[in-house]
Amino acid sequence: MTTDTTKQERQLLSDHVDARMLAVDADEAIADRNAIVQLDPDHPGFRDQEYRARRNQIAQLAMNYHPGDPIPDAPYTPDEHRVWQTIWKALGPAHQKHACAEYLSSLERLSFDPGRIPQLREVNEKVQAISGFRLEPVAGLVQPRVFLETLADGVFLCTQYIRHHSTPLYTPEPDVVHEIVGHGVTLASERVAELNRLFGQAVKRTTSADALEKLSRVYWFTIEFGVLRENGSVKAYGTGLLSSAGELEEMHEVELRPFDLDAASSQAYDPTHFQPVLFCADSFAEMYQTLRNYLVNW
Ligand SMILES: [Fe+2]
Repeated sequence: MTTDTTKQERQLLSDHVDARMLAVDADEAIADRNAIVQLDPDHPGFRDQEYRARRNQIAQLAMNYHPGDPIPDAPYTPDEHRVWQTIWKALGPAHQKHACAEYLSSLERLSFDPGRIPQLREVNEKVQAISGFRLEPVAGLVQPRVFLETLADGVFLCTQYIRHHSTPLYTPEPDVVHEIVGHGVTLASERVAELNRLFGQAVKRTTSADALEKLSRVYWFTIEFGVLRENGSVKAYGTGLLSSAGELEEMHEVELRPFDLDAASSQAYDPTHFQPVLFCADSFAEMYQTLRNYLVNW
């Protein structure tokens, strides 16, 4: 195995990270939806002044944004559009092989251009017309409670920057690819949009940190990393899987457990690696009914 391959595999391992769900125990008082991400020294874009300036410029768009206004377009560069093209080349065939039917039909409705990053404004118009869900830009990571509660109002808080062009298949934080290809597409399904709203309402009724952690785990093992059976095969409906070609391939190798949401609520996870355990529903209908009942009765 060459060093390059090893490096690429290590990068693929982290492609799905959604750090929003990491900080459940963090100080919830810092509930500022406009916190700007400080890049770590090991972030791929740390030494790229031009990239950092553009990240700040895009963050500024979110900070000046007033809910309900049209979302301002982000100034992506040709390099960044090439990142989208590279990702799309890997994801296109992976979706056809591993995505559930509900996802594929939503994907068709959004009809992305494989040549350029779609603007949130364009995605928002289509998603809103289908499910009533609205995307709103945020500058960076949002506290889990803020992120989840906002879903109750049919609003998905969305980052707008794209990962650094030196690592097209890797991002240490949710970027516009995860947001659009994962969440944007799934929210163009009325049933998945309803489940997202119910998550938000359940979080609003949750006071203890313990209960919030349980609910966050259920969100993780369904909305982010859910799988189900369709015509005898395991297919993905989770946004973390659907935005990572590497993890879509890998999900067939992992331990699949029955779709027991109490069990999922006490299953710890490590977001920095491919998930070794997933909870698999017998069908989309079973997933929808079981999760819906769970959230309504929470
Ligand atoms: Fe996510």
